[in-house]
Amino acid sequence: MDVLVTGGAGFIGSHLVKQLLRADDVTKVTVLDAITYAGHIENLRDELHSPRMTFVKGTILDKELVDYYVQRCQAIVHLAAESHVDRSFFEAGTFVMTNVLGTQIVLDSAQRFGIERFVHVSTDEVYGPLPSGAATENDPLRPTVPYAASKAASDLIALSYHQTFGVPVCVTRSSNNYGPCQHAEKIIPRFVTNLLTGEPVTLHGQGEHIRNWLYVEDNCRALELVLREGVPGEIYNIGGGTDLTNRELTGLLLAECGADWDAVRHVPDRRSNDVRYAMDWSKLRALGWEPQRTLEEGLAETVRWYRDNPDRRPPVRRDPAAPTAEVAITAPVGA
Ligand SMILES: NC(=O)c1ccc[n+]([C@@H]2O[C@H](COP(=O)([O-])OP(=O)(O)OC[C@H]3O[C@@H](n4cnc5c(N)ncnc54)[C@H](O)[C@@H]3O)[C@@H](O)[C@H]2O)c1
Repeated sequence: MDVLVTGGAGFIGSHLVKQLLRADDVTKVTVLDAITYAGHIENLRDELHSPRMTFVKGTILDKELVDYYVQRCQAIVHLAAESHVDRSFFEAGTFVMTNVLGTQIVLDSAQRFGIERFVHVSTDEVYGPLPSGAATENDPLRPTVPYAASKAASDLIALSYHQTFGVPVCVTRSSNNYGPCQHAEKIIPRFVTNLLTGEPVTLHGQGEHIRNWLYVEDNCRALELVLREGVPGEIYNIGGGTDLTNRELTGLLLAECGADWDAVRHVPDRRSNDVRYAMDWSKLRALGWEPQRTLEEGLAETVRWYRDNPDRRPPVRRDPAAPTAEVAITAPVGA
């Protein structure tokens, strides 16, 4: 099986590429990645030497380029996306372009070249906040932020290509991933890299928001399972990590990095910060998947990786006006 992985130089994509290259029946992995600020070719440093690996720097918005590589593979795992919620507050257009239009371009090519397997990688955030209970795959989509709305739109486009054209699409929706190689804009690497260098971290509100944390390799095993055994047209929730408030997560990271609560600054909650996500993932469990890594093991491994790879802490722009070392993006908070 020749597999095209879009976004394969990003956080989850690069772990998936490593995993696919370990499978004997994967004859070739082609990564198509634009290497935006979030993509890192170093994530694939070892894999680039594999004769079964091809890396292409390019955008999924380039139809000719997409066609060229799609017609040379049998399967696609589509991860390329703008992935950071906070950025979507002031760059929503880029999210719509990449996540919605880009997905449609890959799907269109997949349809024309008769792709045999297509996994569209999405998120639990499309279900919106759930004060209680757990979302099943049939629940309505109620995204509250532009990132999640763009992912929800792309899910619907993907499923429509199955209904209308018979493209063998499976959609996966996973909870928050963590692990090595994640961009420092996301909460765990941001906190870890700050704490390891003695800088403070910022907690939104009282840190009461609840997220489910899944080790990235567990997610990648689920993605490969869906790639191989998923039923076209079906959606698979990938949950099963550990539910934590951000305050609880902060406590664990402080302990793991040898810091204490003096390192924590409280800042006002960000806009539209969904209080809780939760999913029912029994459908995936029925395919035989269970997460394997405990939170304790996964966090220890993550912190060890950032400690061992100081040069791999991605460059981040700090807001000079910010009183703390929280990562700023490109617009002032509250813009
Ligand atoms: N990280 C999570 O917790 C999480 C959870 C659920 C779902 N997801 C989804 O999984 C996928 C991967 O997430 P991630 O955390 O690895 O994101 P990431 O931001 O680390 O990686 C995204 C990759 O896509 C590439 N990319 C962006 N625009 C592109 C374009 N136009 N053409 C080609 N490549 C482009 C980037 O260069 C980067 O390498 C995304 O679709 C995201 O929505 C992520």
